[in-house]
Amino acid sequence: MNKPLTMAQTKRLGVLAVHSVDEFVISVPNLDVAEEFYSLFGLRVEREGDALGLYTFSGAHRYGRVISGPKKRLQWLTMGVYAEDFEAFKNHFKSKGIQTIASRDPLSSDGLWIDTPDGFPVQIKVCEKSSPSMPPNRIFAPESNGAGRSPNKSKVQKVHPRYLSHVLLFTKSVTASLAFYEDVLGLRMSDSAGDDLIAFVHSPHGSDHHLLAFLKSDDYGFHHASWAVDSIDEVGLGSMQMAAAGFKEGWGVGRHVLGSNYFRYIQDPWGGFCEYSFDIDFVPHTIDWPAANHPPDDSLYAWGPDVKPDFGLNYEASGQEFVANRTPTN
Ligand SMILES: [Fe+2]
Repeated sequence: MNKPLTMAQTKRLGVLAVHSVDEFVISVPNLDVAEEFYSLFGLRVEREGDALGLYTFSGAHRYGRVISGPKKRLQWLTMGVYAEDFEAFKNHFKSKGIQTIASRDPLSSDGLWIDTPDGFPVQIKVCEKSSPSMPPNRIFAPESNGAGRSPNKSKVQKVHPRYLSHVLLFTKSVTASLAFYEDVLGLRMSDSAGDDLIAFVHSPHGSDHHLLAFLKSDDYGFHHASWAVDSIDEVGLGSMQMAAAGFKEGWGVGRHVLGSNYFRYIQDPWGGFCEYSFDIDFVPHTIDWPAANHPPDDSLYAWGPDVKPDFGLNYEASGQEFVANRTPTN
């Protein structure tokens, strides 16, 4: 069902900015558990030495890496830049008085590494733009034309997300994170809600409404990775796919207001989430998105079930312990 991703690499000329979240890296205590979870979710999971690589079945890009650690913890983000911008970024960091730090990646010393205000590192690296450069694939049911349009339940195929849409991080300060990702990395605010509660940023080189977002917490952390699927049916079918494997905890199906995407969040084995997302707003490189601050109660979702009580809880913060509650399957 999934076609290969073929995207022109759009660029807003004269603007210095990262173009993609090239890769996220998290640690978890048990790689076997992670391999099973992400495979069930529909990703292509590859054993790579002491780590897992997270891919989709739509291309060769590695969107995430899972390494071993005492607990689930955000390790670092790698942000992609165009080759012609790399020297300019070096100079930009110098002009802002930002010190580079040693590589945290045992496999590579590529790129530039800097600390975020929250205290975890970000790598800036030359790489292909992996954020979409055109509106994502969207399949809607055709006109009835005398025949039923629902997927036939007996013929349903496993859902395989197409690409990483965005990552939501916990942050100690949404305001400080916004300042860092805008002033240092060139991202732009799409929308925010509340006072230092949550904010969403996109790349001026073209990306989904948000490729990164920040939610206020006592500590930094990795709230969720959001994976784009082709239809609202795939959001629902993905939810069923995970429930059948015992992963019934989560939130959705619903529709976000900011970003507009239909969602189903699956709670992962460590208390974070993995999102099936469809029809998120797209911000082309030619458009200045009308950023605004919104009331929190008119931001999160237009419709859907009540929010899961621990949806905003940061299990990476000290003092929070997640007890996995996977339903046994027959
Ligand atoms: Fe999301």
